[in-house]
Amino acid sequence: MIIAPSILSADFSRLGDSLKETVDAGADWLHIDMMDGTFVPNISFGPMVMAAVRPLVDCVFDCHLMIDQPERYIQAVVDAGADYVTIHVEATAHPHRAIQMIKQAGVKAGVVINPGTPVSAIEPLLADCDLVLVMSVNPGFGGQKFIPNAVDKVAQLAHIRQEKGYDYLIEVDGGINEQTGAQCKAAGADVLVAGSYVYKHANMRQAIDSLR
Ligand code: DX5
Ligand code: ZN
Repeated sequence: MIIAPSILSADFSRLGDSLKETVDAGADWLHIDMMDGTFVPNISFGPMVMAAVRPLVDCVFDCHLMIDQPERYIQAVVDAGADYVTIHVEATAHPHRAIQMIKQAGVKAGVVINPGTPVSAIEPLLADCDLVLVMSVNPGFGGQKFIPNAVDKVAQLAHIRQEKGYDYLIEVDGGINEQTGAQCKAAGADVLVAGSYVYKHANMRQAIDSLR
């Protein structure tokens, strides 16, 4: 199981040190949540902040774009050091084109679905995806309660992957803790994103180990 702490819950007043601690505590990836205040009702940070912390840690940067028309920012986040760029199918009329753009920029491409979006909405894209992210909260904020319909979507994606011979990773994001993480793992998830659970835990290493 790949564990990707969401830096949205890190201490922004000392972000670099907080991310070093996260990687030292055993994080495999860092999950980078970019929000535009339009696609979601919150604003986080953009490529400049990511570029500033990128040289401080050696791990995979998993960039989740909660941005309308994400095509506009693909090159900027790749230049800032993203290893995976994941776009919402709900945020663009041309998700297939966006995935091609991400791959042409030389990094891994992911697609993400909100809790109200069925797996069928991304079926035509799956052959081209390196990663599929299933939201288990409505995006915009950390610390929300897990929405259980994500578990069934993970199982559907695992089934399609096996049936068609695809090789995307299945990632879940929102309300992940020891219990909900175990449900996602049992359904076939490969990557767990966790923000508040990891950063509010008294012992970060223990939190990460408990998810794994
Ligand atoms: C939600 C973000 C998540 C969020 C998860 O909009 O995409 O990555 O930080 O936070 P928790 O784990 O606290 O639900
Ligand atoms: Zn996220």
